[in-house]
Amino acid sequence: MSTTITLIQGDGIGPEITDAVVSILDAAGADLNYEKHDAGITSYNACGKLITEELIASIKEHKVALKGPITTPVGDGFRSINVSLRLMFDLYQNIRPCKSIPGVATKFEGIDIVLFRENTEGLYSGLELFDERHQIYDSIARVTRLGCDRIVRAAFEYAVKHGRKKVTIVHKANILKSSSAFFLHVAKEVAAEFPQVAWEDKIIDNMCMQLVAYPERYDVLVTTNLFGDILSDLMAALVGGLGIVAGANIGKDCAIFEAVHGSAPDIAGQNKANPTALLQSAIMMLRHLNKFEVANKIEQALFKTLADKEYCTGDLGGKAGTKEFAQSVIANLV
Ligand code: NAI
Repeated sequence: MSTTITLIQGDGIGPEITDAVVSILDAAGADLNYEKHDAGITSYNACGKLITEELIASIKEHKVALKGPITTPVGDGFRSINVSLRLMFDLYQNIRPCKSIPGVATKFEGIDIVLFRENTEGLYSGLELFDERHQIYDSIARVTRLGCDRIVRAAFEYAVKHGRKKVTIVHKANILKSSSAFFLHVAKEVAAEFPQVAWEDKIIDNMCMQLVAYPERYDVLVTTNLFGDILSDLMAALVGGLGIVAGANIGKDCAIFEAVHGSAPDIAGQNKANPTALLQSAIMMLRHLNKFEVANKIEQALFKTLADKEYCTGDLGGKAGTKEFAQSVIANLV
């Protein structure tokens, strides 16, 4: 049965990579209808709103969205649309798989890590105070029992379901003795409910070093919002860069699938962007929709394209453009 999803093309390279991904989904017979909506500056320029009621209603109705990257002004300007959507739909799980792809040469082999990043709390809660008289800014890193419990539980449940061996809880409880120590405390309580899964904890700075030196030792990671944001870009570099890795924002009722990378203004509109990250996010989305067969078919075609440098984009050392890459994946569909 055909499924309708919300499609947000996004900014910068967003339209190019979403067009490429939709062409592959359609050619593979994913049987999806797309309800297209703008968000952020594109939407603001069209109708004066960064997030429209129509977009909100569409996500509520269809429960699944595929989203291109959205530009957020640095410093001044509007608040991140990505963060707003995650808070609005309570998409508390940000899942970022990071796996070596056959044929994509990197310094490491055999990496298969899944990061669970808490997506609604911490320093991204939006609780910012400003004392104008004394010129003092405070950004509050709010963590709650519910927030810590449900993201750690999601990581352990994932580990059980997928036969994973170990969960690493990443924190800074040595210094942040309230918020991060509480995250670790609740994480240990949840871990005790899953005796079949080994676990350990690591301080965030050491974790960065460990991931660069011994990435093959890690399996499932779970951490708070800011640490997860930074770790996921670091992890992307281990398997081929930001053009490769997928992401999913999952809540109780809705899910938004998007690449880890941003709108890449430096290469926008030049047919240079690698659509793999968004395509991998779309593959996660198909599995979320129980469309396993077509997800596997697209994944195999994608890996075949990635194994041939001639059809890869510049970030992977190839010469192909976004469109040629998509055409190659379509040609590899069997
Ligand atoms: P970025 O991820 O857009 O780009 C970083 C570097 O990676 C650039 O050199 C870019 O060319 C390259 N890159 C990224 N995606 C690529 C792809 N698919 N193919 C080939 N190369 C790729 O990060 P940056 O420059 O820090 O942020 C640009 C904008 O994107 C900002 O406004 C930021 O707020 C926004 N952003 C949005 C996200 C989202 O919508 N989920 C996530 C991260 C950033």
